[in-house]
Amino acid sequence: ETIYLKDYKAPQFIIKTCDLVFELFEEHTQVTNLMQITKEDKNAKDLTLNAVDLELLEIYLDDEKLDESRYVMEKESLKILDVGDIFKVIIINKIYPHLNSELEGLYKSGNIFCTQNEPEGFRRITPYIDRPDVMAIFKVTLVADKERYPVLLSNGNRESNFKLDDGRHGITWFDPHPKPSYLFAIVAGDLGVIEDKFITKSNKYVRLYIYTDRGNESKCKHAMKSLKDAMKWDEDVYGREYDLSIYSIVAVDSFNMGAMENKGLNIFNSAYVLADEESATDANFMAIESVIAHEYFHNWTGNRITCRDWFQLTLKEGLTVFRDQCFSADMNSKEVGRIEDVKALRERQFVEDASPTAHPIQPDSYMAINNFYTATVYEKGAEVIRMLHTLLGEKKYRKAMDLYFDTFDGQAVRTDDFLWAMSKAGGVDLEQFKRWYHQSRTPKLKIDERFESGKFIVTLTQIVPDAVDGSAQKPYYYPLKIALLESSGKEILEKVLIVSKESQEFVFEAKSKPILSINRDFSAPIIIEHKESNYAFLMKHDKNSFVKYESAQSFALETIEALMRGEGIDEEYVKAYEHILEEELEMSYKALLLELPSVSAIMQRAKVIDFEIIYEAKEKLQKHLASTCKEKLLELYRQNHKPQSKKLDAKSIAERSLKNRALKLLSSLESDEIATLANEQYNMSLTMTDRVVALDILENISAELSATGLDDFYKRYKNDTLVMQKFFSILAASNREGTLDRVIALQNDDAYNELIPNFVRSLIGVFARNYKYFHAKDGLGYKFIADKIIDIDKINPQIASGLAGAFKIYEKLNEQNKSVMKIELQRVLNEHSLSKNVYEIISKILKI
Ligand code: ARG
Ligand code: ZN
Repeated sequence: ETIYLKDYKAPQFIIKTCDLVFELFEEHTQVTNLMQITKEDKNAKDLTLNAVDLELLEIYLDDEKLDESRYVMEKESLKILDVGDIFKVIIINKIYPHLNSELEGLYKSGNIFCTQNEPEGFRRITPYIDRPDVMAIFKVTLVADKERYPVLLSNGNRESNFKLDDGRHGITWFDPHPKPSYLFAIVAGDLGVIEDKFITKSNKYVRLYIYTDRGNESKCKHAMKSLKDAMKWDEDVYGREYDLSIYSIVAVDSFNMGAMENKGLNIFNSAYVLADEESATDANFMAIESVIAHEYFHNWTGNRITCRDWFQLTLKEGLTVFRDQCFSADMNSKEVGRIEDVKALRERQFVEDASPTAHPIQPDSYMAINNFYTATVYEKGAEVIRMLHTLLGEKKYRKAMDLYFDTFDGQAVRTDDFLWAMSKAGGVDLEQFKRWYHQSRTPKLKIDERFESGKFIVTLTQIVPDAVDGSAQKPYYYPLKIALLESSGKEILEKVLIVSKESQEFVFEAKSKPILSINRDFSAPIIIEHKESNYAFLMKHDKNSFVKYESAQSFALETIEALMRGEGIDEEYVKAYEHILEEELEMSYKALLLELPSVSAIMQRAKVIDFEIIYEAKEKLQKHLASTCKEKLLELYRQNHKPQSKKLDAKSIAERSLKNRALKLLSSLESDEIATLANEQYNMSLTMTDRVVALDILENISAELSATGLDDFYKRYKNDTLVMQKFFSILAASNREGTLDRVIALQNDDAYNELIPNFVRSLIGVFARNYKYFHAKDGLGYKFIADKIIDIDKINPQIASGLAGAFKIYEKLNEQNKSVMKIELQRVLNEHSLSKNVYEIISKILKI
């Protein structure tokens, strides 16, 4: 069942070209697949193709029709016996896209035919050597009813079209770039479209299209602008130009993940395309910009240079996330961008790294590869690239990227090949650095400091956790950006230290004992343990926006932990907080500085997790801050609350985030005054950002006002699926009593649809992250999610295994929660015909 990297073997056969004809009908699709194949391994006799859930009609080998003695059809493969060195295969098979609820291969999203083939969906369309190191040139003809499916798309350039007598029509596409099957895509539907153009730096004209359900065209403008910005950025920063004359994006409602970088034909979850001021939040606009760019950047990091095998996934994903993070930082605020990236990393990746599902960014084994599209492979992978960028510096990094593109263009390669280019052009030895690819879990760094006769001595000790199987892991190599500050706050020096040994001493000359500012910009994805740190000082004086933020977080965490131990509130923290409240700072950055640590952040530092205690302590601090700083917070709110503005410029977004931060903090007072403010905001504001924040606050502090608000919201938006997902999320995240029962009932709501992953994520997924009710001591939250995993696994194993992720913190829970959770986990495992996706996650959590 388990697949190992060490078992990798080069393909015995290569498919040179693949000509496909899709005849699309309402009840089935017929696929005709003509492949030119060559034998690479002269010892191979039979050709084995991947084939899952396919109904075989006919097979021809070099134009000879094969009878059943010449091939073997098994559950997941088709073996053609005794083939030559160079030959042609034609396979005709039938599939049923309208019944495909896994959303892999060819399926229907509403009335749109679309595909998702990464990593192994293509084998559900037609028999194929479905692995990324087999790259073919594809020609595709789509045939369908012209009225229902006027738009017929595939990769590459449009070659020709024809009409049939029976109202059907056909279009042929040709993609000149050889590509692996996972980048193959088709779309058919009656779609609306917006069109634009981009002229590349070498003057090539590219037509840009964004397709969506009719009526949503005007919501595609922001996505189009993001696409053009991304194309320009990749030319300016990486020198990479687009290489086809068409770039199309199609938005569909049913999609397992965010989006997919199919060559020249991206398919997107509509949540990452559609937006206007009326229906999308500021965060939605940012997410669209980032995902559009991510998929575009894959054209070079992923498509032109792809992965040899799926163990190399971080080769394209870590690198492409790093690229999209830098793009978003350039388009918006660098400071805020970096902090948001680190926050996201810790909320998801650190939790994963601390759990039994921890894995290196390059895993060495898997059961279900779909389980490895993780925060570790993506976000930690991006941090690893960022460290290389820091180690090499911008100039050499760019040189190394150029070398990577020059050397490996058109190939399917490994992370080692990437590191070779980095090392060669960067002039650094990366042997030890490679451990980041093969070791799991988050390393810690212990900082000890002393000052002796004009010398400041910093001792760094790496604490490297054991791997999941208990085996010891070795010290890492990484850049650690630090600075020394005088007591006036003045910076004496800033430096990038190279950490490489288990224990290392760094000596600095200094007149008096300086204050250490450490892991500036979060230069390495580690956990710092620093007893002597002076958070109040750094909150006030550090010029590094990350360390200033980090100090505010750490100070708050320590204050909350004291409360959890039954101690009082550290007034020095309150003073430092008030200072920030009064400081002149860029507003969206200030909003971040004023945010208290998440429940997850508190939980990650606890040895044994008890959510009730965490909640209580956090609420106590929040209430204390809200009442102590009430006037200032109200002032901040009033100054920046501009209900009649729906502008999307940086300043307007920042104002909204700051005043909404103030309002949220104040809401912990649960007073009528704040409820009234929130209610006014809900009724008056023109932006979705403001309405959602207001509604969320009302839901948590005023049963009465929230009932009217929710009612209004529902009536207004019940036909807008993306907005309804926000509605479900607010209710699923609620603190109010009866939340579980309401979530259960909402599944029967007319606006809810269990077959569409976005709905499952917005209701069930969000509930599974509602710490208060998911972790209720009676175990009913666990039982509900376990039931949902069992149900949804029958529909869509990927979505079910995503839900199972909520149980990752099992090991660290207190005995009571643990024992009720265990019963539910075991119950899921006892289900027969459980998918390997869910099995892999839950058996790892239970260490079976
Ligand atoms: N390559 C896509 C992206 O990162 C993700 C596709 C993942 N799909 C999946 N079924 N696991 O943009
Ligand atoms: Zn990606």
